[in-house]
Amino acid sequence: MKLVIISGSVYGTADLVADEAANQARAAGLEVVRMKGASVDGLLAENADALLVCCATTGMGELPDTLVAFHAELHDRFPLLTGLPFGVIALGDSAYGDTFCLAGEQLRETLLELQAREAVPMLRLDASETVTPEADAEPWLSDFYAALQG
Ligand SMILES: Cc1cc2nc3c(=O)[nH]c(=O)nc-3n(C[C@H](O)[C@H](O)[C@H](O)COP(=O)(O)O)c2cc1C
Repeated sequence: MKLVIISGSVYGTADLVADEAANQARAAGLEVVRMKGASVDGLLAENADALLVCCATTGMGELPDTLVAFHAELHDRFPLLTGLPFGVIALGDSAYGDTFCLAGEQLRETLLELQAREAVPMLRLDASETVTPEADAEPWLSDFYAALQG
């Protein structure tokens, strides 16, 4: 099973979580392709069996710069990802109120519109609650990998 892991980060936390996720996936026997930022062609070329997106929110509920073009391209080209299992880890800060984890939510919505299948419900990591997001993601990642392989 080939898993593509995409991260969108401003200050590096989402990249770190994605790197840890990649380590854990390899330990679980998955083949991992790790991408910081992404393009539709880059994603489609991998012919992935599953997708994990780790995405921070910046600005007022915006995507990190590294994923803005990717997200727009998904909407413009609308490459159907029918049945592709995916998971989203959304990093945010609940102090931002209504825009908490909004970028992750937007990517999740788009993937659902493209008919991909959410393997486990989105994980929200709140910077107001934790300083160890990569450790906090571990139980969710175990569930995600089990769902992919089960
Ligand atoms: C300038 C700035 C704007 C932010 N805006 C939001 C926001 O609108 N919603 C949210 O949930 N988190 C927001 N955050 C919090 C980040 O998403 C959170 O700290 C995240 O862990 C950062 O991940 P990164 O290190 O990968 O960039 C913002 C942080 C900064 C510094």
